[in-house]
Amino acid sequence: ANDAGPFVPEKADLAGLREAAAGCRGCALYEDATQTVFGDGGAGARLVMVGEQPGDQEDRKGEPFVGPAGRLLDRALEEAGIERGDAYLTNAVKHFKFTRREGKRRIHQKPGVTEMAACRPWLVAELRLIGPDVIVALGATAGRALLGSAFRVTKQRGVPLPCPPYDRLGTAAEGDEANGRIVATVHPSSVLRSDDRDAAYAGLLSDLKVAAGLLG
Ligand code: URA
Repeated sequence: ANDAGPFVPEKADLAGLREAAAGCRGCALYEDATQTVFGDGGAGARLVMVGEQPGDQEDRKGEPFVGPAGRLLDRALEEAGIERGDAYLTNAVKHFKFTRREGKRRIHQKPGVTEMAACRPWLVAELRLIGPDVIVALGATAGRALLGSAFRVTKQRGVPLPCPPYDRLGTAAEGDEANGRIVATVHPSSVLRSDDRDAAYAGLLSDLKVAAGLLG
């Protein structure tokens, strides 16, 4: 297979999707990763947060956003008045992509367009089951997975954007009917790497507050 499509069960709840995703061989990333890191949260969530891909700790633990970026995100969510438990957290790509340096250390590698496309059927299936009012795209990869390759986080962050119909995710065209809204922001990892962390964090927080405001 060269995408996840054949692995996605047609009639399944989130637990069923998660179980099936554990055996996904839709791209080559499963070969080196420890496990699939599926989304976390309930089908009743009105807010879905989409990251890039699991990091080193997420890969070991099997849960999204449990490493350093997740801790920063937790803090920002709390300050924005969003309960992590009320949101559904997931990633555009569900296996950790990395290279090995000096034997042991695993260095994160950005997923490519083929991996994003290969994994998209899982994201679509999650969104179909949840049907959130608001999706937060954390960073450029998530933004491109949802809105297509023309997405630019610097230009489009912090303002509600129409979400394309789920079957057109990542290939949005003019005239598509909106299907809830997307608020894009920077990835929490980029805040951790920033030269001006306070300013970067303030930007993330202000974008999350826009999302919180849409939820009412
Ligand atoms: N970064 C992400 O994009 N997702 C995670 O789950 C963890 C770190």
